[in-house]
Amino acid sequence: MNTVVVGSQWGDEGKGKLIDIISENSDITVRYQGGNNAGHTVIVNGKQYIFHLLPSALLHKGKVCVIGNGVVVDPKALLAEIAEQESKGIKVTPKRLKISGLCHVVMPYHRILDSLRETKRKNKIGTTGRGIGPCYADKVTRCGIRIIDLLNPKILKEKLADNLREKNEIFKKVYSRNDFRFRNIYQEYLNYGKKIAPYVCDTAIYLNQAIDQKKDILFEGAQGTFLDIDFGTYPFVTSSNSTVGGVCVGSGVAPMKIDKAIACVKAYTTRVGEGPFPTEFSCKMDEIVRKKGKEYGATTGRPRRCGWFDSVLVRYSAIINGITELAIMKLDVLDDLKEIKICTAYRYRGKTYKSFPMDFEVISHAKPVYETMKGWCTPLSGIRTYKELPHHARIYIERLEQLLKVQVKYVSIGSSRDQIIFR
Ligand code: IMO
Ligand code: MG
Repeated sequence: MNTVVVGSQWGDEGKGKLIDIISENSDITVRYQGGNNAGHTVIVNGKQYIFHLLPSALLHKGKVCVIGNGVVVDPKALLAEIAEQESKGIKVTPKRLKISGLCHVVMPYHRILDSLRETKRKNKIGTTGRGIGPCYADKVTRCGIRIIDLLNPKILKEKLADNLREKNEIFKKVYSRNDFRFRNIYQEYLNYGKKIAPYVCDTAIYLNQAIDQKKDILFEGAQGTFLDIDFGTYPFVTSSNSTVGGVCVGSGVAPMKIDKAIACVKAYTTRVGEGPFPTEFSCKMDEIVRKKGKEYGATTGRPRRCGWFDSVLVRYSAIINGITELAIMKLDVLDDLKEIKICTAYRYRGKTYKSFPMDFEVISHAKPVYETMKGWCTPLSGIRTYKELPHHARIYIERLEQLLKVQVKYVSIGSSRDQIIFR
């Protein structure tokens, strides 16, 4: 059985926790897009682990983790993350971690350009500053450097020299910034290549062989559907396809091989960075939910913007990702609220929108149409079965199911591993 877990909103839906739980029953977990802009938090026995590039399944002994070709890899960040996990007692051996030679490499000039570009923009995106956008841009412009190039000094030399010739001119003329020195970067990245080499393989072949051997594969999405470069709230998005479609191009596994797509859905909505957010709270509610939900970015530490559940948004996600089941996360964060709202449509200039609009003007100015539900005002964190949930919590879940037209299979009611209800 090959399963995908995708974020259905703007990221940070709790994918890390869900992957940690589901990956116990799969053989291989694969990241297929994004880079170290992701921040997936898992809490085991009170200990917190945050994954950026490595799949969160690493916590399960003996499971294989793959970084597929669609991921952009910052080798410095990768090696630091491996070292950090090893210091916590997790063995990251080449048997357990496989990295595609086709992954594009985040270079120092990508990281710098990421923030410099923001300074020139009127509409700032609020990127994580990890160089993700510029790296994907070079991939598409066809001047990118791939992991496999780091293992070939001759190729790396040619590509890097060629890149720096152009980039240094841009940096000087457009951003009045000092140039990047070939020698330093070349040596630094050759060294990274040596350290990463043992993990590098053709992960597409590896995964397809595993599928032939009836192994179970789990694909771990990063970011969320509305950060997808095509379907998200463009241009306030990330630079990869974070939707289910990204699995195929980002791993080399064909669409016919995918059996199940689980949407990770936060019981309310959050967003980090800039961009439209129709159901965003006013100040007071924002603070209450942020505090209870610990809504601060796992990568940048920025406070996340919070809002009510938006079923227009998530229904759109369910459609384009072909979602077969839902996992409702962080339901316990709503425990104390007397009333809970669900957005069921948008209104703009006298028109009602029941499905997610394409026009940026509409998305930016739409007023949500809300349905108000009764809160349960009971702590959920100790509950372990669906039928023990308070009546109003069940009504809330079942209303979401109705609006999204997909069954809820998991309900998370706390951050630790056992705080999950299987339905
Ligand atoms: P996980 O996997 C939430 C957001 C950034 C910014 C936009 C573009 O933890 O859900 P980028 O650095 O990708 O060019 O930034 O995307 N963003 C995320 N928001 N969760 C994430 O990952 C994110 N990754 C990127 O805040 O608005
Ligand atoms: Mg995150």
